[in-house]
Amino acid sequence: MVPVPLEALWIIFPAYLANASAVLVGGGPPVDFGKTWKGKPLLGAGKTWRGLLGGIGIGAVVGYLQAIVYPEYFGGYPVFLLTVFFLAAGALIGDITESFFKRRIGKKRGEKWFLADQLDFLIGALGVAFLGSILIEIAGLTESNWFLDTFSLWHILFLVFFTPLIHFIINNIGFKAGVKEVPW
Ligand code: CTP
Ligand code: MG
Repeated sequence: MVPVPLEALWIIFPAYLANASAVLVGGGPPVDFGKTWKGKPLLGAGKTWRGLLGGIGIGAVVGYLQAIVYPEYFGGYPVFLLTVFFLAAGALIGDITESFFKRRIGKKRGEKWFLADQLDFLIGALGVAFLGSILIEIAGLTESNWFLDTFSLWHILFLVFFTPLIHFIINNIGFKAGVKEVPW
């Protein structure tokens, strides 16, 4: 049997990678095109189209390679084409959603928001993957819910506690390497 932490990290990796690659490939036009709402940026300049689409692309492509190696973790072919995409896209949808609320409460781009900054992409990835799995089941592509079949409470608990830690370590490396403007 594969240990829960290893399994959890393997399955969530497309989401982690999508989030991390957005930092590397980001730049250019912002997702909100500079729009403001009640005097505050809608999302802010830290959310760009390049980061969003590039991050999803990189996360999904690596996830597809993972799914070719171990298809069973991602629902098998052809379902993995969807589940992997949901994990990668969900990560950056969660990140954008967090920025939306961060701006509403008046925090500036890059300002610290403890736990929200660290968990946004995990919550987004799990949430979108869960909703997506319901649609996949309704569409008749699976006989049961991929998300519920794949993630136990232990996998999720491990990820909720471990993600802020790994986020902290990776962001510090990114900051010291000069690719990230702030170490969080
Ligand atoms: N990034 C991007 N596009 C995205 C997500 C991230 O270009 N959709 C890039 C930006 O350069 C951003 C960096 O990745 O500054 C780090 O992302 P994050 O920490 O989420 O953004 P912050 O700059 O901290 O902005 P916010 O306060 O809105 O979280
Ligand atoms: Mg964020």
